[in-house]
Amino acid sequence: MYVWMFPNGEAEKRKSIVMPTPTQLSSARLLPDTTTASQDGVMHIAGYSLIDLAQRHGTPLYIFDRATIINACQRYRKAFHDTYHASPVRIIYAAKAYLSPLIAQIMAEQGMGLDVVSGGELAVAHHAGFPMENVSFHGNNKTEDELHLALQLGVGRIVLDNWSELERLMRVAQETKKRPRVLLRVAPDVETDTHRYLQTGHAASKFGFPLSNGEAKVAIQAVLRSEHLQLIGLHAHTGTMLRETRPYEECLERLLDLAAEIYEEAGWWPEEISPGGGWGIETVDGADVPGVDVLAQALQKVMERSGADRAALPVPTLIIEPGRSIIARAGVALYRVGARKPTPGGITYLFVDGGMADNIRPALYGARYTALPVEQRATPEEEVCISGRYCESGDMLVERVVLPEMQDGDLLLLPTAGAYCLPMASNYNLVPRPAVILIDEQQVWQMERRETYTDLLMRYSEE
Ligand code: LLP
Repeated sequence: MYVWMFPNGEAEKRKSIVMPTPTQLSSARLLPDTTTASQDGVMHIAGYSLIDLAQRHGTPLYIFDRATIINACQRYRKAFHDTYHASPVRIIYAAKAYLSPLIAQIMAEQGMGLDVVSGGELAVAHHAGFPMENVSFHGNNKTEDELHLALQLGVGRIVLDNWSELERLMRVAQETKKRPRVLLRVAPDVETDTHRYLQTGHAASKFGFPLSNGEAKVAIQAVLRSEHLQLIGLHAHTGTMLRETRPYEECLERLLDLAAEIYEEAGWWPEEISPGGGWGIETVDGADVPGVDVLAQALQKVMERSGADRAALPVPTLIIEPGRSIIARAGVALYRVGARKPTPGGITYLFVDGGMADNIRPALYGARYTALPVEQRATPEEEVCISGRYCESGDMLVERVVLPEMQDGDLLLLPTAGAYCLPMASNYNLVPRPAVILIDEQQVWQMERRETYTDLLMRYSEE
């Protein structure tokens, strides 16, 4: 009996005797926890044949494995429970990585909070019955309507990002006679080793009140003077796809130092403090990503040091906001090959029925993915470029991958498609968006129905 995909040892061992190809072996750590292969070489997730799922739900199809999501939430809980004891911790799922009502419900069941960044995300959370007191509302340009909605629904925290927003929220709070709990987002001037578009904590960042020129401190004082707002904490987020703890440590240290200065001057001390989210995931480049227990340990040390300096003050609740590291590996994209095109220029393309409109990440950030055949074949291997159906030469999901020769109609799977693919999807070329399902061993839920031409045409109808 041989199971070739069991990144965390949770896969059932019942089905598999098929020997893996090298590509599949190296991809095992990128796949959902319940991935297996049947005796006839067909990939399964949560016990379902991907061929059957594609037949029933069509392609492109995004599939989320419930067990992998729950395991990731529990890994966070366990890491922080076992390693971090400096103060209470709240783990808040960053909904921008992927949100649907069913995902919001899983997060609620797992005791996670929810970070939303728009009225739309807020509406989905509300619709799912997510407890509003556990919602944090982020964003660098929340509208007055969104702030009204947030106050009306009673969100637990609003994270203030800039001066205009501060004034706007004061106005809305005064009008509605509510006194929202707010955290102030600081740009802590911490550099991160990630793609330029994914850095958010440097002095020139569009997010947060800059620390380096003293604005953050002035803004805190302004919030403290306002009778309409309750300042409960400080927040920062330095970037995403981080693989080292240093930016988190520096960020948390700077927030605590800033809090200490304010305490000396105004006697205010935060109840909550957050170095944000951004923990990376393993990708096809093979770089090592430490487990979240390493992050928990590092944050524990910073909090301990700060506690030792200020023994009389309570250690603030630590808030962390993972998105990608909760959901990315739980999701896979399933495409059908429509054509194979060798070119005289040396590139052989496999055209699939999705592409940059459902996954813009390779084109936008040079993000690297891999692709796997759903059925193992003994055909000779070749190097191909997996290209989408959209009218752009840059529409490449995987620039180079070695696969057994594929035929029209074969299925291809793209791992780690659970984060930031669907949320950034578009209708480029007016192609309807894919269907999305959630599966566990008992059930298949339709998470998002496939868009239709009628849906597209609705946009042009008068209200
Ligand atoms: N907290 C805040 C305030 C954030 O801005 C973000 C991500 C997170 C938490 C969650 O970060 P995560 O753990 O998911 O890395 N579209 C990009 C990612 C943008 C993330 C923006 N903020 C991508 O496809 O890589």
